[in-house]
Amino acid sequence: MTTPLIIDTDTAQDDCVALLVGLLDPEADLRAITMVAGNVGFDQQVRNAFLTANVAGRLDEVPVYLGCRSPLVRPWVSAENVHGDGSGGLDMDRSGLTTASEHAVDALVRMAAESPGALSIVAIGPLTNIAMALAKDPSFVANVKSLYVMGGSNNGRGNITAAAEFNFYVDPEAAKAVFAAGFDVTVVPWDPLTLRQAVFDQERLDRIAALGTPLSDFFTRVCAATLEFDRRVGIDGTTHPDSLTAALLLRPELARKVSRYHVDVETAGELTRGYAAMSWGVHGLEPNARVVEEIDTEGFFDHLLKVLSRPTEPNRPILGL
Ligand code: BDR
Ligand code: CA
Repeated sequence: MTTPLIIDTDTAQDDCVALLVGLLDPEADLRAITMVAGNVGFDQQVRNAFLTANVAGRLDEVPVYLGCRSPLVRPWVSAENVHGDGSGGLDMDRSGLTTASEHAVDALVRMAAESPGALSIVAIGPLTNIAMALAKDPSFVANVKSLYVMGGSNNGRGNITAAAEFNFYVDPEAAKAVFAAGFDVTVVPWDPLTLRQAVFDQERLDRIAALGTPLSDFFTRVCAATLEFDRRVGIDGTTHPDSLTAALLLRPELARKVSRYHVDVETAGELTRGYAAMSWGVHGLEPNARVVEEIDTEGFFDHLLKVLSRPTEPNRPILGL
């Protein structure tokens, strides 16, 4: 049986790879792509999502809903210095393509209510849309089967600041509300998990490039700007927190160690905005989330290799590839 899911995304670089997982893993039944303000300009993120669906040969099959264009209470913060435009300068003819008319928050609420307890959400951007959905409909939390969140660090370093990971930093109020809401939530953190176990070094990148498929060429291009940035900051390869989050929902056997934590997010701190406090039981706090601590890195890489080796036919020519 396939897994019905929605991917809530700020589509750039690894968000594109996560969409490929959702679009092409035979275990996945991707019902919608919902867009949230994050990595790069909102409209560019939408272009990146369409481009990704096109390379997968699934353009116009999965609806793209436009969500919140800014965080709940703060101005948007971009990661264009990390990701460029998020798609390696690739483009396509977009004539005739339309996004869904319903707002992403309404779509999330509606789709969860239509199949209570069946739908999972993979949230790989700031949690603005998810927080809005739970504010809008008190039964949203119970209607969602499971929420997989990429964000925070588990007693490790941040990336946008020393304390905070980007997704939680951009909308800390939303992240705080989500962890207080009572979802069945699984967290894929930046440090140490992503930094230690979901970085593809040159040898792995070469194996992907050698596939020679439209998908592998696309992968190489969308990851190029981030790879350059990562190397400048001392990370030896491309980082894959978002595609890992999607893969863990669909292939739970890729998780080797998952522990219960109490997760809360700092909204008041000056130097610690967006810091995720992950308490492991000694602080007297009830666990409210599962945090992934170890994965099968080789299995994850093999899974992506399999997805990227599929000989898809893009629906429209990819300009620049
Ligand atoms: C997260 O921030 C974004 O730049 C990535 O897409 C990922 O979701 C990592 O901190
Ligand atoms: Ca993301």
